[in-house]
Amino acid sequence: MKKILFSFLLLCAPLLLHAQRADYGIIPQPKSVTVDDSQFFILQSGMGIAYDAGNPEVARNAQFLHRWVEELTGVHLQMTPQDKKAAIRLVLGFPADKKAKKNKKGTQAPALTEQQQEAYAITIDKSGILIQARQPIGFFRAAQTLRKSLPIRPTSSRQGGEELRAANERSEALSLTGEREEGLFFPYVQIQDEPRFVYRGAHLDCARHFFSVETIKTYLDLMALHGCNQFHWHFTEDQGWRFEVKALPELAKKGSVRNQTVLGRNSGIYDGQRYGGYYTQEQCREIVNYAAERYINVIPEIDMPGHMMGALHVYPNLGCTGGPYPVWEQWGVSHEVLCAGNPETMTFLKTVFGELCDVFPSKYIHIGGDECPKSRWKNCPKCQAKARELGLKDDGKHSIENQLQTWINHEMEQFLKERGRDMIGWDEVLEGGLTEGGIVMSWRGINGGIEAARQHHRVIMTPTDYCYIDYYQLKDQWGQPLGIGGYLPVSKVYGFEPLIPDQLSDEEQKYILGPQVNLWCEYVGYPEHVFYMLLPRLDAISEVQWCRSEQKDFENFKARLPRMLKLYDRLGVNYCHQIE
Ligand code: ACM
Ligand code: ZN
Repeated sequence: MKKILFSFLLLCAPLLLHAQRADYGIIPQPKSVTVDDSQFFILQSGMGIAYDAGNPEVARNAQFLHRWVEELTGVHLQMTPQDKKAAIRLVLGFPADKKAKKNKKGTQAPALTEQQQEAYAITIDKSGILIQARQPIGFFRAAQTLRKSLPIRPTSSRQGGEELRAANERSEALSLTGEREEGLFFPYVQIQDEPRFVYRGAHLDCARHFFSVETIKTYLDLMALHGCNQFHWHFTEDQGWRFEVKALPELAKKGSVRNQTVLGRNSGIYDGQRYGGYYTQEQCREIVNYAAERYINVIPEIDMPGHMMGALHVYPNLGCTGGPYPVWEQWGVSHEVLCAGNPETMTFLKTVFGELCDVFPSKYIHIGGDECPKSRWKNCPKCQAKARELGLKDDGKHSIENQLQTWINHEMEQFLKERGRDMIGWDEVLEGGLTEGGIVMSWRGINGGIEAARQHHRVIMTPTDYCYIDYYQLKDQWGQPLGIGGYLPVSKVYGFEPLIPDQLSDEEQKYILGPQVNLWCEYVGYPEHVFYMLLPRLDAISEVQWCRSEQKDFENFKARLPRMLKLYDRLGVNYCHQIE
C-alpha cells in the first residue's frame, strides 16, 4: 500500500507544485494599479534582490522585503546587490523626473511635496519585479505593498488545524519526490503610489494603562503596515506619569504608581492593587529608533496644565492648594491642575519639555491643553495675581482663566520654537486665543479644526465621532470587553472626509495636515485589547489617510479586508472579527 502511494505521489508531483498567487487588492489601496493577470512572473527561492549596498537605508529596506517574503511564504531570496538581472531590483529615481528636468531647462522645477518624496512604482513583467523610488522611504512603502500582496503560506501554529495539516502533508510528499514547493506567481502589474495626506497618525494612551516596549513596537509595526507616519505617544496623566525626567528622578518613580484602580466606570469599588510602570529615556530612544526605521515619527505628549495628578502627587507645591494629591485612582477629569501663578510651574515645565526635546527629535511636540478645569485658578490668589500682572481682562469671548492658559501655551510655544519644534495642542488651545504657530488637534468634533484652518493654522483632524477608537465598534456591546461607550464602527471611520470641502475653501483645506485615530486606554488594559480596538479600524483610517476620496468605496474595501485579517492571523495579533 505504501509503495502504491509513493508511486502515485511521484506521478502527481508537478501537479502538487504549490502555485501561490499574489493579489494586489491591499489596504490602503495604491493610487493606481494596472494588472494583466493573463501573465505571471514566478518568484522562487534562490532568486536575488539587487539594491545599492552603499546606501544603508536602501539596504535596510531590501532586508525588510527579504524578511517579509520569507516569513509569509517560506521563499528564501538571496541578497545580490550588484546583480543587474536579479528578480527584484530596487532602483533610485524616476525616469519621468529626469525627463521633466530636461524639458524645463532654465526653469526651476517645482519642489516635490513630502507625499511625492514617498512615491514609488512597482513594475512586474517577464524581467521580474522592478521597484523605483525617489527616496529610500519609497522602497519601504513598496516593500509593504508587496508584503501585503503575498500569498500567505499556512505554517503558523496559530493557523487553523486542517489547513496546517494539509500543508505539512503536502511538503512531506514533495520532499519525498525532491520537488520544490516554492513559487510565487505575480500577475504582471504596474503600480504607482503616493499618499494623500502628509500627516497620517495613530495615538496610544500609555498613561491610563502602561504598555510594554514590545507592545508599542507591535503597534508601530501595524502602523507601518498601513502607511501611517506619526505615532502620538500620550504618556502623562492624572492616573500616572510615565516619562523619566533625569533632573526630577522622583517624578516617574513615584508619579507612575497609583495605589489602586477603580473597577468599571467609576463604580466606587476599587481593585486594591498597586499599578505602575514608566519608560526610561533609554527605552524612549529605543522606540524612537525603531519607529524611525519604519518611517514613523514619534510625537510625545506631556498633557498640561490639566491631567497632572501624577506630577502633583510628587510635587504638591505645583498645585493651587498645595495638596496632598494622590495619583488618581479613578477615571474622568480632575479639577486639580498645575498652578498658573506659581513661577515654579514654568520652571518645572521647561525642565520636563527640555528633556523631552532631548529624547524626541520630532518636529512636533504635543503640549496637551485639553480638559483643564478653571475652578482652582478662579479661586487661587497666585493665579489671579498672575492674571493681573499680565493685564488679562475678560473680553466677552475669552475668559481671564482661558487667557491664562493661552499665556502658558505661548511660553511653551516659544520654548519649543527655540529648539526648532512646533507645538501641537488639543483644540481647547483655541479658547484663550491661539498662539501664532500652534497646530490644532481637533477632537471635539471638526469645528475647532475648521476655525483653526480659517485662521490659517495647521490642523490635525481627530474628531471623536470618526476617530475615537476607544469607542465600541459593534452595536451589541455585551459580548465585548468593557469600553468607555460610544459607537464607532469600521464603516463610520471609513466614511470620514478630513478636508470638510463644504465648509473650507481650497486654500483653507491646505492647512489640514491629515487625520489620526486616538486610542484612549482607561478601559483598555492589556495588549490583546489594544489590538482588538485598533484592528480593523486602522485599515479604515488608513484609506482615509492614504487614498483620494474618489478612490474610496466601502464595499470594495470590505472585499479586500479578509486578506488583511489573514495577515493579522499570521502575525499573531488580535482584531475584531466582526465588521459593521
Ligand atoms: C481628549 O480626548 N481629552 C483629547
Ligand atoms: Zn493657582
